Amino acid sequence: MRTGEGSCVATRRLPRPAELRDLLKPRRLPLSPVERGLAQAHTIWDLRAVARRRTPRAVFDYTDGAAEEELSLRRAREAFAGVQFLPNVLRDVANVDLGVEVLGRRSELPFLFAPTGFTRMMHHEGERAVARVAERTGIPYALSTMGTTSIEDVAAAAPQARKWFQLYVWKDRAASKDLVVRAKEQGYEAMILTVDTPVGGARLRDVRNGLTIPPSLTLRTFVNGAMHPAWWFNLLTTEPLTFASLTRWEGTVAELLDEIFDPTLSLEHLDWLRELWDGPLIVKGILSADDARMVVGHGADGVLVSHHGGRQLDRAVPPLGMLPKVVDAVGGRAEVYLDTGILNGGDVIAAMAHGATATLVGRAYRYGLMAGGERGVQRAVDILTAQLTRTLRLLGVRSLGELTPEHAKLPASLRD
Ligand SMILES: Cc1cc2nc3c(=O)[nH]c(=O)nc-3n(C[C@H](O)[C@H](O)[C@H](O)COP(=O)(O)O)c2cc1C
Repeated sequence: MRTGEGSCVATRRLPRPAELRDLLKPRRLPLSPVERGLAQAHTIWDLRAVARRRTPRAVFDYTDGAAEEELSLRRAREAFAGVQFLPNVLRDVANVDLGVEVLGRRSELPFLFAPTGFTRMMHHEGERAVARVAERTGIPYALSTMGTTSIEDVAAAAPQARKWFQLYVWKDRAASKDLVVRAKEQGYEAMILTVDTPVGGARLRDVRNGLTIPPSLTLRTFVNGAMHPAWWFNLLTTEPLTFASLTRWEGTVAELLDEIFDPTLSLEHLDWLRELWDGPLIVKGILSADDARMVVGHGADGVLVSHHGGRQLDRAVPPLGMLPKVVDAVGGRAEVYLDTGILNGGDVIAAMAHGATATLVGRAYRYGLMAGGERGVQRAVDILTAQLTRTLRLLGVRSLGELTPEHAKLPASLRD
């Protein structure tokens, strides 16, 4: 090869040892594998990957999966991915405030922990861990009827947390009433009535995995479990899995849901609960503006736009697309929350820009829980908080109340 005129030939030298020392700064990673996994997770998707490694397949799939072909969940996430932000510049965003007002009190962040079942199966620290993180962070936590820690034990674990209780009005009405009374006695602030469950959705991963609660040792689960000895050890050496509401269940998840869910679910159930519970009442699982108007007319203080994380009706419309219509229909007479598909602080901002009072996250904190118990839930909160702060700043917005729909343009498919 000919080196032509003007070509640049660098003069080389041997680096001095001190220069090499400066370059070779090994990253200090925590010694414990759990801490290491968490430290290397920078997104909720990273946490999900750690969660997957740490739990038996049927357990991971219970959280990760949705109904039938899982189209509802995928489309809900795609709806968020399709949002286009329009930023303002030169706004001095040194200080941003992530607080919102929820049921008349400040919540430090615009997301709270959604009610989810069988939490102690994901990690032995379970609901207590989630409630403690909520307490530290200053956000509400909703305990599920299908929770695996009792109403009283969650209250004792996080006495200062804002605790809500999610109710399935099941076939046994006296049992439902007992839960409401206990939640009241323990100082729970609000009641969420879930209404998108006249029957259980077809969660095919659970069916295929033969998931039972508690998990049973079949040959297949035993072989898979051998790869997750820590998880099994923790399950077998901590208090047995029972429910917030039931003392024991011996059967598959599908059978349990059939026992609890009641196809006669109607406005009469809402009226019954409205009579019984004198605190704030939020109706969860609303997608249409008409239904939102109807439940507010029957005394709901809040409407949660949601399709249950895609775990019930498949091919359901993405909640984000319905949010502006519900906000409009409710017209300030009730608070409007949104969940399903939120895995990034930017998703939360999109919902807030379209009128949500606050959002709820389910899988996001459960991936953290599976990845590392209470520390993992905290990591999920930290990730979402960092994303929220950065996105707000880059949008040129100092508080969530300043957001307008123009900041977050919805994809055309959601704007009909
Ligand atoms: C594993 C799991 C269990 C759930 N259990 C309940 C439940 O017991 N009651 C309820 O109202 N919603 C339940 N949900 C739905 C959540 O409250 C929430 O609507 C959903 O998780 C939001 O979607 P996301 O997971 O994409 O954030 C559950 C969701 C998941 C992922």
